[in-house]
Amino acid sequence: MNEININNQIEDNPIGKTTRRGFLKALAFTAGGLTVLCSGLGIAGVSQPKIDYYSKLSSNEDTPDNKILLAYGSVCGSTGEVAKAISEELISAGLSVDVLPVQDVKTLTGYQTLILGSAIRMGQLCAKTRQFVDKFNNDIAQMQTAYFINCLTMVEDTPENRAEAEGYLAPLCEIKQPLLKGMFAGNLDFSKVELGLRLTMSKSDIFPAEGDYRDWKIIGSWGQEITNTLLTI
Ligand SMILES: Cc1cc2nc3c(=O)[nH]c(=O)nc-3n(C[C@H](O)[C@H](O)[C@H](O)COP(=O)(O)O)c2cc1C
Repeated sequence: MNEININNQIEDNPIGKTTRRGFLKALAFTAGGLTVLCSGLGIAGVSQPKIDYYSKLSSNEDTPDNKILLAYGSVCGSTGEVAKAISEELISAGLSVDVLPVQDVKTLTGYQTLILGSAIRMGQLCAKTRQFVDKFNNDIAQMQTAYFINCLTMVEDTPENRAEAEGYLAPLCEIKQPLLKGMFAGNLDFSKVELGLRLTMSKSDIFPAEGDYRDWKIIGSWGQEITNTLLTI
C-alpha cells in the first residue's frame, strides 16, 4: 500500500518519488482551494465534518502521584476510539488516567506518565499532535512516555511498513525514548474526511480502500502491555 509502500516505491522506482510528492501536493492544493471556495460561498462547515472527540477525566478525589495522561491527536475521531480502548485496560488494572484530545490539554503538571497517540497525515504526525509536542516539548522530555500511531501504513504489517511507521514516531522518540511504541492500522472513513481531501483521495488508488482496519485485539494487547509495564516500574 502506498504512502504506505511509498518508500518502497521510492527505493525501487524514481517515478514512485514523483508520484508520492505529486499526490501529497495534489491533496494539499485541492484541500486548500476547496476550503477557500467553501469559505467564500459561506459554507465553510461543509469542508470539515463535525467530529466528537472522546475524553474522560478520572475522578477529582483520585489524584495519585502516578497519574497518567493519555492524550491523542486526531482529525477524524478514530484515534480517540483507540485511546478509549487503551484507557480501559489501564483503568481495569486500577490505574488513574485522564484521556483528552491534545487540543484540550492545558498542562502536563501533575502527570507522571504521558501516553501520546496520533493519527498520521501526509507522511507525518497530524498537525494537532505536532502543535502539542512543540508546546510541551520540555515537559515531555521529563516524563515517562509511551507512543502509538493510528495509520494506514500498518494495514499490511510487513517489515517495510513497520519501518515506515517507526519513522513517523521518530520525532517523539528524539524528545524522549518511550517505554513502549505501538503502530496500529487505522480507519479511513470518507464521511469524516475534509471535503477537498475526500474528493482527491476517492479518485486516487494510492490509499487503500475506505474501511475500518483497526484490530481491537492488537490494540487491547498493547493496552495490557503498557499497563503491565507501568505496574512493574
Ligand atoms: C488526508 C489523509 C492523509 C493521510 N495520510 C496518511 C499517511 O501519510 N500515512 C498513513 O499511514 N496514513 C495516512 N492516513 C490515514 C490516517 O492516519 C488514518 O485514517 C487514521 O486512522 C486517521 O485517524 P483519525 O480518524 O483519528 O484522524 C491519511 C488519512 C487521510 C484522511
